[in-house]
Amino acid sequence: MRLLYVFLLILAVRLASVFVVQTYYVPDEYWQSLEVAHKITFGYGYLTWEWVQGIRSYVYPLLIAGLYKLLALLHLDSVQLLVLLPRILQATLTAYSDYRFFVWTGKRKWALFLVLVPWFWFYTGSRTLANTLEASLTTIALSYFPWFGEGTGYLWSAAICCFLRPTAAVIWLPLSLYHLRKSRQNVVELILKRFVLIGLLVASLGVAIDTYWHGRLIVTPYEFLKYNIFNNIGSFYGSHPWYWYFTVGLPTVLGINTLPFIFGVMETVKKSEKFAVSKQLLITIFLTLLVLSAVEHKEFRFVSPLLPLCLYVAADALSKWSYRASSTILWTTALVILVGNIIPAWYLSTVHQKGPIELMPKLREIAQDYRDEREHRANILFLMPCHSTPYYSHIHENVTMRFLTCEPNLDKKEQYKDEADRFFENPVHWINSNIPVHPLTAQPSHLVLFDPLAENISVFLRNYRLLHRIEHAEVTRLEGLQALADEWSQAVGAQSPNLVSLLQHRQSRTGRSILVYQRLKKGEENAFNRGGNEDEPDVHDHPGLEELPPAEENQFN
Ligand SMILES: *[C@@H]1O[C@H](CO)[C@@H](O)[C@H](O)[C@H]1NC(C)=O
Ligand SMILES: *[C@@H]1O[C@H](CO)[C@@H](O)[C@H](O)[C@H]1NC(C)=O
Repeated sequence: MRLLYVFLLILAVRLASVFVVQTYYVPDEYWQSLEVAHKITFGYGYLTWEWVQGIRSYVYPLLIAGLYKLLALLHLDSVQLLVLLPRILQATLTAYSDYRFFVWTGKRKWALFLVLVPWFWFYTGSRTLANTLEASLTTIALSYFPWFGEGTGYLWSAAICCFLRPTAAVIWLPLSLYHLRKSRQNVVELILKRFVLIGLLVASLGVAIDTYWHGRLIVTPYEFLKYNIFNNIGSFYGSHPWYWYFTVGLPTVLGINTLPFIFGVMETVKKSEKFAVSKQLLITIFLTLLVLSAVEHKEFRFVSPLLPLCLYVAADALSKWSYRASSTILWTTALVILVGNIIPAWYLSTVHQKGPIELMPKLREIAQDYRDEREHRANILFLMPCHSTPYYSHIHENVTMRFLTCEPNLDKKEQYKDEADRFFENPVHWINSNIPVHPLTAQPSHLVLFDPLAENISVFLRNYRLLHRIEHAEVTRLEGLQALADEWSQAVGAQSPNLVSLLQHRQSRTGRSILVYQRLKKGEENAFNRGGNEDEPDVHDHPGLEELPPAEENQFN
Protein backbone atom coordinates (compact mmCIF):
# COMPACT_ATOMS: atom_id res chain seq x y z
CA MET A 1 0.00 0.00 0.00
CA ARG A 2 2.77 2.40 0.96
CA LEU A 3 4.53 1.56 -2.30
CA LEU A 4 1.42 2.48 -4.25
CA TYR A 5 1.34 5.89 -2.57
CA VAL A 6 5.00 6.39 -3.36
CA PHE A 7 4.36 5.57 -7.01
CA LEU A 8 1.39 7.93 -7.17
CA LEU A 9 3.45 10.71 -5.63
CA ILE A 10 6.21 10.20 -8.20
CA LEU A 11 3.67 10.00 -11.01
CA ALA A 12 2.07 13.26 -9.87
CA VAL A 13 5.42 15.07 -10.03
CA ARG A 14 6.24 13.67 -13.47
CA LEU A 15 2.81 14.47 -14.87
CA ALA A 16 3.06 17.97 -13.42
CA SER A 17 6.23 18.43 -15.43
CA VAL A 18 4.32 17.65 -18.64
CA PHE A 19 2.23 20.74 -18.02
CA VAL A 20 4.81 22.96 -16.32
CA VAL A 21 7.66 22.43 -18.78
CA GLN A 22 6.68 24.66 -21.70
CA THR A 23 10.04 25.54 -23.16
CA TYR A 24 12.23 24.37 -25.99
CA TYR A 25 15.37 22.43 -25.12
CA VAL A 26 16.90 20.66 -28.14
CA PRO A 27 15.61 19.82 -31.63
CA ASP A 28 15.82 16.05 -31.12
CA GLU A 29 12.85 16.13 -28.77
CA TYR A 30 10.64 16.82 -31.79
CA TRP A 31 12.64 15.98 -34.88
CA GLN A 32 13.85 12.52 -33.85
CA SER A 33 10.63 11.23 -32.36
CA LEU A 34 7.34 13.12 -32.84
CA GLU A 35 8.09 14.24 -36.37
CA VAL A 36 8.99 10.71 -37.44
CA ALA A 37 5.91 9.28 -35.74
CA HIS A 38 3.77 11.88 -37.47
CA LYS A 39 5.21 10.95 -40.84
CA ILE A 40 4.57 7.26 -40.20
CA THR A 41 1.00 7.77 -39.07
CA PHE A 42 -0.31 10.64 -41.18
CA GLY A 43 1.88 10.44 -44.27
CA TYR A 44 3.50 13.85 -43.94
CA GLY A 45 6.28 15.10 -41.73
CA TYR A 46 9.95 15.84 -42.16
CA LEU A 47 12.62 13.16 -41.94
CA THR A 48 16.06 14.61 -41.17
CA TRP A 49 19.23 13.20 -42.69
CA GLU A 50 19.63 10.80 -39.75
CA TRP A 51 16.56 8.95 -41.02
CA VAL A 52 17.62 9.06 -44.64
CA GLN A 53 21.04 7.62 -43.75
CA GLY A 54 19.47 5.22 -41.29
CA ILE A 55 21.45 5.96 -38.14
CA ARG A 56 18.40 6.02 -35.85
CA SER A 57 16.18 3.21 -34.74
CA TYR A 58 12.45 3.38 -35.41
CA VAL A 59 11.61 1.68 -32.11
CA TYR A 60 10.88 4.81 -30.07
CA PRO A 61 9.03 6.72 -32.85
CA LEU A 62 6.95 3.58 -33.41
CA LEU A 63 5.76 3.65 -29.80
CA ILE A 64 4.58 7.21 -30.36
CA ALA A 65 3.19 6.33 -33.78
CA GLY A 66 1.11 3.68 -32.02
CA LEU A 67 -0.42 6.37 -29.83
CA TYR A 68 -1.01 8.58 -32.86
CA LYS A 69 -2.64 5.74 -34.76
CA LEU A 70 -4.96 5.06 -31.85
CA LEU A 71 -5.93 8.73 -31.68
CA ALA A 72 -6.51 8.77 -35.43
CA LEU A 73 -8.76 5.69 -35.27
CA LEU A 74 -10.81 7.31 -32.51
CA HIS A 75 -10.91 10.60 -34.49
CA LEU A 76 -9.24 12.27 -31.52
CA ASP A 77 -6.10 13.34 -33.39
CA SER A 78 -6.27 16.98 -32.36
CA VAL A 79 -2.92 18.72 -32.30
CA GLN A 80 -3.21 19.24 -28.54
CA LEU A 81 -3.39 15.51 -27.92
CA LEU A 82 -0.65 14.79 -30.47
CA VAL A 83 1.62 17.06 -28.48
CA LEU A 84 0.49 16.02 -25.01
CA LEU A 85 0.08 12.24 -25.11
CA PRO A 86 3.64 11.30 -26.12
CA ARG A 87 4.91 13.43 -23.26
CA ILE A 88 2.51 11.74 -20.85
CA LEU A 89 3.76 8.39 -22.12
CA GLN A 90 7.39 9.33 -21.48
CA ALA A 91 6.55 10.91 -18.11
CA THR A 92 4.85 7.69 -17.02
CA LEU A 93 7.88 5.63 -18.02
CA THR A 94 10.08 8.11 -16.18
CA ALA A 95 7.85 7.79 -13.11
CA TYR A 96 8.13 4.02 -13.25
CA SER A 97 11.92 4.26 -13.47
CA ASP A 98 11.95 6.65 -10.49
CA TYR A 99 9.87 4.14 -8.59
CA ARG A 100 12.36 1.41 -9.47
CA PHE A 101 15.14 3.72 -8.25
CA PHE A 102 13.33 3.97 -4.92
CA VAL A 103 13.06 0.17 -4.70
CA TRP A 104 16.68 -0.30 -5.76
CA THR A 105 18.02 2.03 -3.10
CA GLY A 106 16.26 0.12 -0.32
CA LYS A 107 13.11 2.27 -0.19
CA ARG A 108 14.74 5.04 1.75
CA LYS A 109 13.33 8.52 2.18
CA TRP A 110 16.49 10.23 0.98
CA ALA A 111 16.41 8.22 -2.22
CA LEU A 112 12.82 9.21 -2.92
CA PHE A 113 13.64 12.83 -2.18
CA LEU A 114 16.76 12.87 -4.32
CA VAL A 115 15.10 11.27 -7.33
CA LEU A 116 12.14 13.66 -7.18
CA VAL A 117 13.97 16.97 -6.89
CA PRO A 118 16.74 17.14 -9.56
CA TRP A 119 15.99 20.12 -11.77
CA PHE A 120 17.42 18.45 -14.86
CA TRP A 121 15.22 15.41 -14.46
CA PHE A 122 12.16 17.62 -14.00
CA TYR A 123 13.19 19.58 -17.09
CA THR A 124 13.85 16.56 -19.33
CA GLY A 125 11.91 13.71 -17.69
CA SER A 126 8.76 14.39 -19.71
CA ARG A 127 10.45 15.20 -22.99
CA THR A 128 10.32 12.73 -25.88
CA LEU A 129 14.08 12.57 -26.09
CA ALA A 130 16.05 9.38 -26.75
CA ASN A 131 18.30 10.44 -23.87
CA THR A 132 15.39 10.54 -21.45
CA LEU A 133 14.31 7.10 -22.59
CA GLU A 134 17.88 5.89 -22.16
CA ALA A 135 18.12 7.31 -18.64
CA SER A 136 14.87 5.69 -17.56
CA LEU A 137 15.78 2.30 -19.10
CA THR A 138 19.18 2.55 -17.38
CA THR A 139 17.54 3.13 -14.02
CA ILE A 140 15.18 0.20 -14.53
CA ALA A 141 18.09 -2.06 -15.49
CA LEU A 142 20.15 -0.91 -12.50
CA SER A 143 17.28 -1.72 -10.18
CA TYR A 144 17.23 -5.33 -11.44
CA PHE A 145 21.00 -5.67 -11.43
CA PRO A 146 22.25 -8.49 -9.11
CA TRP A 147 24.10 -6.22 -6.67
CA PHE A 148 23.48 -8.90 -4.08
CA GLY A 149 22.70 -12.47 -5.08
CA GLU A 150 22.05 -13.61 -8.61
CA GLY A 151 19.75 -12.49 -11.40
CA THR A 152 19.91 -11.56 -15.05
CA GLY A 153 16.61 -9.72 -15.51
CA TYR A 154 18.46 -6.44 -15.97
CA LEU A 155 19.92 -7.68 -19.25
CA TRP A 156 16.68 -7.05 -21.14
CA SER A 157 16.49 -3.40 -20.28
CA ALA A 158 20.24 -2.94 -20.72
CA ALA A 159 20.19 -4.62 -24.14
CA ILE A 160 17.30 -2.45 -25.36
CA CYS A 161 19.17 0.56 -24.07
CA CYS A 162 22.34 -0.38 -25.97
CA PHE A 163 20.39 -1.05 -29.13
CA LEU A 164 18.63 2.31 -29.04
CA ARG A 165 21.69 4.27 -28.00
CA PRO A 166 24.91 2.36 -28.64
CA THR A 167 26.79 4.74 -26.34
CA ALA A 168 24.94 3.08 -23.44
CA ALA A 169 27.35 0.16 -23.86
CA VAL A 170 29.89 2.31 -22.07
CA ILE A 171 27.83 1.94 -18.90
CA TRP A 172 26.85 -1.67 -19.38
CA LEU A 173 30.19 -3.15 -20.36
CA PRO A 174 31.93 -2.52 -17.02
CA LEU A 175 28.79 -3.48 -15.08
CA SER A 176 28.39 -6.74 -17.01
CA LEU A 177 32.02 -7.61 -16.33
CA TYR A 178 31.45 -6.88 -12.65
CA HIS A 179 28.40 -9.15 -12.72
CA LEU A 180 30.36 -11.98 -14.40
CA ARG A 181 33.23 -11.66 -11.96
CA LYS A 182 31.15 -11.81 -8.82
CA SER A 183 28.54 -14.34 -9.95
CA ARG A 184 28.83 -17.82 -8.49
CA GLN A 185 27.23 -19.35 -11.58
CA ASN A 186 29.23 -20.94 -14.36
CA VAL A 187 30.54 -18.01 -16.35
CA VAL A 188 30.50 -19.70 -19.77
CA GLU A 189 26.94 -20.84 -19.22
CA LEU A 190 25.93 -17.39 -18.04
CA ILE A 191 27.44 -15.77 -21.11
CA LEU A 192 25.97 -18.22 -23.61
CA LYS A 193 22.58 -18.80 -22.05
CA ARG A 194 21.93 -15.27 -20.88
CA PHE A 195 24.12 -12.51 -22.33
CA VAL A 196 24.32 -13.86 -25.85
CA LEU A 197 20.76 -15.12 -25.94
CA ILE A 198 19.14 -11.93 -24.67
CA GLY A 199 21.48 -9.78 -26.73
CA LEU A 200 20.63 -11.71 -29.90
CA LEU A 201 16.90 -11.65 -29.22
CA VAL A 202 16.82 -7.90 -28.63
CA ALA A 203 19.14 -7.20 -31.57
CA SER A 204 17.19 -9.34 -34.03
CA LEU A 205 13.91 -7.79 -33.03
CA GLY A 206 15.43 -4.31 -33.35
CA VAL A 207 17.07 -5.07 -36.68
CA ALA A 208 13.82 -6.59 -37.98
CA ILE A 209 11.84 -3.48 -37.02
CA ASP A 210 14.40 -1.11 -38.50
CA THR A 211 14.84 -3.16 -41.66
CA TYR A 212 11.11 -3.06 -42.24
CA TRP A 213 10.76 0.67 -41.66
CA HIS A 214 13.98 1.79 -43.31
CA GLY A 215 13.18 -0.44 -46.25
CA ARG A 216 16.58 -2.14 -46.36
CA LEU A 217 18.63 -4.45 -44.18
CA ILE A 218 20.12 -2.14 -41.62
CA VAL A 219 21.78 -2.32 -38.20
CA THR A 220 21.12 1.18 -36.88
CA PRO A 221 23.57 1.04 -33.93
CA TYR A 222 26.37 0.22 -36.36
CA GLU A 223 25.38 3.06 -38.69
CA PHE A 224 25.13 5.37 -35.67
CA LEU A 225 28.68 4.57 -34.58
CA LYS A 226 29.96 4.79 -38.12
CA TYR A 227 28.61 8.30 -38.61
CA ASN A 228 29.09 9.76 -35.19
CA ILE A 229 32.36 8.36 -34.03
CA PHE A 230 34.34 7.18 -37.04
CA ASN A 231 33.32 10.07 -39.27
CA ASN A 232 33.21 12.51 -36.36
CA ILE A 233 30.07 14.07 -37.84
CA GLY A 234 29.03 15.26 -34.41
CA SER A 235 31.84 17.81 -34.25
CA PHE A 236 29.99 19.62 -37.04
CA TYR A 237 27.53 20.60 -34.34
CA GLY A 238 30.16 22.13 -32.09
CA SER A 239 33.10 20.85 -30.13
CA HIS A 240 34.29 21.27 -26.57
CA PRO A 241 37.51 20.66 -24.67
CA TRP A 242 38.01 17.10 -23.45
CA TYR A 243 37.47 17.85 -19.74
CA TRP A 244 34.14 19.62 -20.37
CA TYR A 245 32.01 16.85 -18.80
CA PHE A 246 34.03 16.99 -15.58
CA THR A 247 34.12 20.77 -15.20
CA VAL A 248 30.83 21.81 -16.78
CA GLY A 249 28.71 18.95 -18.09
CA LEU A 250 28.08 16.78 -15.06
CA PRO A 251 28.14 19.60 -12.45
CA THR A 252 25.47 21.47 -14.42
CA VAL A 253 23.23 18.47 -14.87
CA LEU A 254 23.51 17.67 -11.17
CA GLY A 255 23.14 21.31 -10.17
CA ILE A 256 23.04 21.71 -6.43
CA ASN A 257 22.89 17.92 -6.14
CA THR A 258 26.60 18.06 -6.92
CA LEU A 259 27.14 18.77 -3.22
CA PRO A 260 25.53 15.57 -1.87
CA PHE A 261 27.16 13.72 -4.77
CA ILE A 262 30.62 14.95 -3.77
CA PHE A 263 29.81 14.02 -0.18
CA GLY A 264 28.86 10.56 -1.47
CA VAL A 265 32.10 10.28 -3.42
CA MET A 266 34.15 11.21 -0.33
CA GLU A 267 32.30 8.77 1.90
CA THR A 268 32.66 6.00 -0.68
CA VAL A 269 36.37 6.59 -1.09
CA LYS A 270 36.91 6.72 2.69
CA LYS A 271 34.85 3.67 3.61
CA SER A 272 34.70 1.68 0.42
CA GLU A 273 33.79 -1.58 2.19
CA LYS A 274 30.60 0.01 3.53
CA PHE A 275 29.68 1.40 0.14
CA ALA A 276 30.32 -1.53 -2.21
CA VAL A 277 27.57 -0.63 -4.69
CA SER A 278 28.49 3.05 -4.72
CA LYS A 279 32.09 2.11 -5.36
CA GLN A 280 31.14 0.10 -8.43
CA LEU A 281 28.88 2.91 -9.64
CA LEU A 282 31.65 5.46 -9.24
CA ILE A 283 33.98 3.36 -11.36
CA THR A 284 31.27 3.14 -14.01
CA ILE A 285 30.60 6.88 -13.89
CA PHE A 286 34.27 7.67 -14.23
CA LEU A 287 34.82 5.28 -17.16
CA THR A 288 31.73 6.58 -18.94
CA LEU A 289 32.81 10.19 -18.55
CA LEU A 290 36.24 9.31 -19.92
CA VAL A 291 34.80 7.69 -23.02
CA LEU A 292 32.27 10.48 -23.59
CA SER A 293 35.09 12.98 -23.20
CA ALA A 294 36.92 11.46 -26.15
CA VAL A 295 34.08 12.50 -28.48
CA GLU A 296 34.38 16.10 -29.59
CA HIS A 297 30.69 16.91 -29.61
CA LYS A 298 29.44 17.18 -26.03
CA GLU A 299 26.03 17.95 -24.63
CA PHE A 300 24.42 17.94 -21.21
CA ARG A 301 21.78 15.42 -22.18
CA PHE A 302 24.46 12.84 -23.02
CA VAL A 303 25.16 12.41 -19.31
CA SER A 304 21.51 11.98 -18.33
CA PRO A 305 21.88 8.16 -18.02
CA LEU A 306 24.53 8.80 -15.38
CA LEU A 307 22.06 10.76 -13.28
CA PRO A 308 20.59 7.69 -11.47
CA LEU A 309 24.09 6.42 -10.72
CA CYS A 310 25.14 9.74 -9.22
CA LEU A 311 21.90 10.01 -7.26
CA TYR A 312 22.42 6.54 -5.84
CA VAL A 313 25.88 7.50 -4.59
CA ALA A 314 24.45 10.66 -3.00
CA ALA A 315 21.39 8.94 -1.51
CA ASP A 316 23.44 6.09 -0.08
CA ALA A 317 25.78 8.45 1.75
CA LEU A 318 23.02 10.80 2.94
CA SER A 319 20.94 7.91 4.29
CA LYS A 320 23.81 6.59 6.36
CA TRP A 321 24.77 10.08 7.48
CA SER A 322 21.21 10.98 8.50
CA TYR A 323 21.32 8.49 11.43
CA ARG A 324 23.86 10.69 13.15
CA ALA A 325 22.64 14.14 12.09
CA SER A 326 20.25 16.29 14.11
CA SER A 327 16.82 16.90 12.68
CA THR A 328 17.48 20.64 12.25
CA ILE A 329 20.47 19.87 10.06
CA LEU A 330 18.49 17.27 8.13
CA TRP A 331 15.66 19.66 7.37
CA THR A 332 18.04 22.47 6.46
CA THR A 333 19.92 20.20 4.07
CA ALA A 334 16.70 19.04 2.45
CA LEU A 335 15.41 22.60 2.15
CA VAL A 336 18.61 23.87 0.56
CA ILE A 337 18.62 21.03 -1.96
CA LEU A 338 14.93 21.60 -2.73
CA VAL A 339 15.22 25.35 -3.29
CA GLY A 340 18.46 24.93 -5.22
CA ASN A 341 16.61 22.68 -7.65
CA ILE A 342 13.32 24.52 -7.86
CA ILE A 343 14.86 27.79 -9.03
CA PRO A 344 16.62 26.47 -12.17
CA ALA A 345 13.74 24.05 -12.83
CA TRP A 346 11.21 26.86 -12.74
CA TYR A 347 13.27 29.25 -14.82
CA LEU A 348 14.24 26.80 -17.53
CA SER A 349 10.81 25.18 -17.69
CA THR A 350 8.73 28.31 -17.95
CA VAL A 351 10.85 31.26 -19.07
CA HIS A 352 13.98 30.41 -21.00
CA GLN A 353 13.37 29.57 -24.69
CA LYS A 354 9.62 29.44 -24.49
CA GLY A 355 9.17 31.12 -27.88
CA PRO A 356 8.91 28.04 -30.12
CA ILE A 357 6.32 26.39 -27.90
CA GLU A 358 4.11 29.50 -27.90
CA LEU A 359 4.68 29.99 -31.59
CA MET A 360 3.36 26.62 -32.74
CA PRO A 361 -0.36 27.07 -31.87
CA LYS A 362 -0.29 30.37 -33.78
CA LEU A 363 1.23 28.70 -36.83
CA ARG A 364 -1.24 25.90 -36.46
CA GLU A 365 -4.09 28.41 -36.64
CA ILE A 366 -2.56 29.96 -39.76
CA ALA A 367 -2.10 26.55 -41.35
CA GLN A 368 -5.72 25.70 -40.67
CA ASP A 369 -7.51 28.93 -41.56
CA TYR A 370 -5.39 31.05 -43.86
CA ARG A 371 -6.27 31.34 -47.55
CA ASP A 372 -4.64 33.87 -49.86
CA GLU A 373 -6.39 35.79 -52.63
CA ARG A 374 -6.12 32.74 -54.88
CA GLU A 375 -7.49 30.45 -52.19
CA HIS A 376 -4.05 28.91 -51.67
CA ARG A 377 -3.25 27.62 -48.22
CA ALA A 378 -0.45 28.93 -46.07
CA ASN A 379 3.12 28.45 -47.23
CA ILE A 380 5.46 29.01 -44.30
CA LEU A 381 9.17 29.77 -44.49
CA PHE A 382 11.32 29.56 -41.35
CA LEU A 383 14.28 31.94 -41.67
CA MET A 384 15.91 30.67 -38.50
CA PRO A 385 18.77 28.38 -37.56
CA CYS A 386 17.73 24.87 -38.58
CA HIS A 387 15.28 23.01 -36.34
CA SER A 388 14.63 26.07 -34.15
CA THR A 389 11.01 25.03 -33.66
CA PRO A 390 8.97 21.83 -33.70
CA TYR A 391 7.46 21.06 -37.10
CA TYR A 392 4.51 19.12 -38.53
CA SER A 393 3.86 17.26 -35.27
CA HIS A 394 2.77 20.60 -33.78
CA ILE A 395 0.89 21.80 -36.90
CA HIS A 396 -0.92 18.67 -38.04
CA GLU A 397 -1.99 20.26 -41.34
CA ASN A 398 -0.41 19.34 -44.64
CA VAL A 399 0.62 22.83 -45.70
CA THR A 400 3.89 23.69 -47.42
CA MET A 401 6.66 24.57 -45.00
CA ARG A 402 10.34 25.12 -45.52
CA PHE A 403 13.25 25.72 -43.16
CA LEU A 404 16.97 26.33 -43.64
CA THR A 405 18.61 22.94 -43.48
CA CYS A 406 21.90 22.16 -41.78
CA GLU A 407 22.98 18.77 -43.01
CA PRO A 408 26.53 17.82 -42.18
CA ASN A 409 29.03 17.40 -44.98
CA LEU A 410 28.00 13.85 -45.85
CA ASP A 411 29.59 13.89 -49.29
CA LYS A 412 32.86 15.32 -47.96
CA LYS A 413 32.70 18.36 -50.24
CA GLU A 414 35.44 20.92 -49.91
CA GLN A 415 34.50 24.32 -48.52
CA TYR A 416 31.16 22.87 -47.50
CA LYS A 417 28.61 25.21 -45.97
CA ASP A 418 25.12 24.14 -44.99
CA GLU A 419 22.07 26.08 -46.12
CA ALA A 420 21.60 27.90 -42.80
CA ASP A 421 25.23 29.06 -42.87
CA ARG A 422 24.89 30.26 -46.43
CA PHE A 423 21.71 32.09 -45.52
CA PHE A 424 23.15 33.90 -42.51
CA GLU A 425 26.27 34.86 -44.41
CA ASN A 426 24.18 36.98 -46.72
CA PRO A 427 20.43 36.81 -46.10
CA VAL A 428 19.49 39.18 -48.92
CA HIS A 429 21.46 37.21 -51.46
CA TRP A 430 19.91 33.96 -50.33
CA ILE A 431 16.42 35.42 -50.60
CA ASN A 432 17.08 36.83 -54.06
CA SER A 433 18.29 33.53 -55.38
CA ASN A 434 15.71 31.32 -53.68
CA ILE A 435 12.46 33.24 -53.66
CA PRO A 436 10.73 34.38 -56.85
CA VAL A 437 10.05 38.10 -57.18
CA HIS A 438 6.93 37.74 -59.35
CA PRO A 439 4.17 37.05 -58.84
CA LEU A 440 3.81 38.04 -55.24
CA THR A 441 1.60 35.01 -54.61
CA ALA A 442 4.54 32.73 -55.39
CA GLN A 443 6.32 34.07 -52.32
CA PRO A 444 5.78 32.41 -48.98
CA SER A 445 2.57 33.50 -47.32
CA HIS A 446 4.24 33.56 -43.91
CA LEU A 447 7.74 34.09 -42.58
CA VAL A 448 9.02 33.09 -39.16
CA LEU A 449 12.22 34.68 -37.92
CA PHE A 450 14.08 35.93 -34.86
CA ASP A 451 13.84 39.70 -34.45
CA PRO A 452 17.42 40.79 -35.27
CA LEU A 453 17.08 39.47 -38.81
CA ALA A 454 14.11 41.73 -39.64
CA GLU A 455 16.42 44.71 -40.01
CA ASN A 456 18.69 42.93 -42.46
CA ILE A 457 15.89 41.85 -44.79
CA SER A 458 13.67 44.91 -44.38
CA VAL A 459 13.38 45.37 -48.15
CA PHE A 460 11.97 41.92 -48.60
CA LEU A 461 9.65 42.43 -45.62
CA ARG A 462 8.00 45.39 -47.29
CA ASN A 463 5.56 42.96 -48.87
CA TYR A 464 4.68 41.58 -45.45
CA ARG A 465 3.08 42.76 -42.29
CA LEU A 466 3.95 41.73 -38.76
CA LEU A 467 1.33 39.34 -37.45
CA HIS A 468 2.78 38.10 -34.16
CA ARG A 469 5.66 38.97 -31.90
CA ILE A 470 6.41 36.20 -29.41
CA GLU A 471 8.72 36.51 -26.44
CA HIS A 472 11.48 33.97 -26.62
CA ALA A 473 14.36 34.52 -24.23
CA GLU A 474 15.36 37.45 -22.13
CA VAL A 475 19.04 37.07 -22.95
CA THR A 476 19.79 37.62 -26.59
CA ARG A 477 23.40 36.67 -26.45
CA LEU A 478 22.87 33.12 -25.40
CA GLU A 479 21.16 30.38 -27.19
CA GLY A 480 20.05 28.02 -24.52
CA LEU A 481 21.63 26.09 -21.79
CA GLN A 482 24.46 24.86 -23.92
CA ALA A 483 25.62 28.37 -24.70
CA LEU A 484 25.23 29.40 -21.07
CA ALA A 485 27.68 26.73 -20.11
CA ASP A 486 29.97 27.56 -22.98
CA GLU A 487 30.18 31.02 -21.49
CA TRP A 488 30.94 29.48 -18.16
CA SER A 489 33.62 27.19 -19.51
CA GLN A 490 35.16 30.17 -21.25
CA ALA A 491 35.18 31.95 -17.94
CA VAL A 492 37.05 29.09 -16.27
CA GLY A 493 39.62 29.16 -19.01
CA ALA A 494 38.32 26.49 -21.31
CA GLN A 495 38.47 28.93 -24.14
CA SER A 496 38.96 27.71 -27.67
CA PRO A 497 38.73 29.77 -30.85
CA ASN A 498 36.13 27.36 -32.15
CA LEU A 499 33.86 28.11 -29.24
CA VAL A 500 34.15 31.84 -29.70
CA SER A 501 33.17 31.73 -33.32
CA LEU A 502 30.33 29.39 -32.46
CA LEU A 503 28.99 31.87 -29.94
CA GLN A 504 29.30 34.79 -32.31
CA HIS A 505 27.32 32.84 -34.86
CA ARG A 506 24.60 32.23 -32.39
CA GLN A 507 24.43 35.80 -31.21
CA SER A 508 23.50 37.07 -34.61
CA ARG A 509 21.11 34.25 -35.41
CA THR A 510 18.61 34.16 -32.56
CA GLY A 511 16.97 36.88 -30.58
CA ARG A 512 14.70 38.02 -27.83
CA SER A 513 11.54 37.37 -29.76
CA ILE A 514 10.18 35.41 -32.67
CA LEU A 515 8.35 37.33 -35.38
CA VAL A 516 5.66 36.00 -37.69
CA TYR A 517 5.02 37.94 -40.89
CA GLN A 518 2.11 37.56 -43.28
CA ARG A 519 2.25 38.50 -46.94
CA LEU A 520 0.18 41.55 -47.86
CA LYS A 521 -2.83 40.85 -49.97
CA LYS A 522 -3.69 42.97 -52.99
CA GLY A 523 -5.01 46.32 -51.84
CA GLU A 524 -3.60 45.97 -48.35
CA GLU A 525 -1.50 49.03 -47.67
CA ASN A 526 1.94 48.27 -46.40
CA ALA A 527 1.70 51.10 -43.95
CA PHE A 528 2.11 48.49 -41.23
CA ASN A 529 5.81 48.15 -41.82
CA ARG A 530 6.45 51.79 -42.43
CA GLY A 531 4.61 52.73 -39.27
CA GLY A 532 6.60 50.27 -37.25
CA ASN A 533 9.96 51.34 -38.62
CA GLU A 534 10.05 55.12 -38.33
CA ASP A 535 13.81 55.18 -38.21
CA GLU A 536 14.20 53.12 -41.34
CA PRO A 537 16.23 55.03 -43.93
CA ASP A 538 14.49 56.28 -47.03
CA VAL A 539 13.45 53.24 -49.03
CA HIS A 540 15.13 54.67 -52.12
CA ASP A 541 18.46 53.88 -50.53
CA HIS A 542 17.71 50.24 -51.05
CA PRO A 543 17.23 48.67 -54.39
CA GLY A 544 13.50 48.15 -54.84
CA LEU A 545 12.40 44.58 -55.11
CA GLU A 546 11.29 45.27 -58.68
CA GLU A 547 14.79 46.27 -59.69
CA LEU A 548 16.43 43.15 -58.40
CA PRO A 549 17.62 40.71 -61.02
CA PRO A 550 15.16 37.87 -61.52
CA ALA A 551 15.80 34.88 -59.35
CA GLU A 552 18.25 32.49 -60.94
CA GLU A 553 16.85 29.37 -59.46
CA ASN A 554 13.52 29.03 -57.82
CA GLN A 555 13.87 26.28 -55.30
CA PHE A 556 10.97 27.34 -53.28
CA ASN A 557 8.24 25.10 -54.52
C1 LIG B 1 0.71 16.63 -48.48
O1 LIG B 1 0.88 17.67 -49.41
C2 LIG B 1 1.77 17.38 -50.47
C3 LIG B 1 1.95 18.62 -51.30
O2 LIG B 1 0.75 19.28 -51.50
C4 LIG B 1 1.25 16.19 -51.27
O3 LIG B 1 2.14 15.86 -52.31
C5 LIG B 1 1.09 15.00 -50.34
O4 LIG B 1 0.52 13.91 -51.04
C6 LIG B 1 0.22 15.37 -49.14
N1 LIG B 1 0.23 14.25 -48.21
C7 LIG B 1 -0.84 13.80 -47.59
C8 LIG B 1 -0.66 12.63 -46.74
O5 LIG B 1 -1.92 14.33 -47.70
C1 LIG C 1 22.43 42.22 -39.80
O1 LIG C 1 22.82 43.56 -39.75
C2 LIG C 1 23.61 43.89 -38.63
C3 LIG C 1 23.82 45.39 -38.62
O2 LIG C 1 23.96 45.91 -39.89
C4 LIG C 1 24.91 43.10 -38.72
O3 LIG C 1 25.73 43.39 -37.62
C5 LIG C 1 24.59 41.62 -38.74
O4 LIG C 1 25.76 40.87 -38.89
C6 LIG C 1 23.64 41.31 -39.86
N1 LIG C 1 23.23 39.93 -39.73
C7 LIG C 1 23.19 39.10 -40.74
C8 LIG C 1 22.72 37.73 -40.43
O5 LIG C 1 23.53 39.41 -41.86
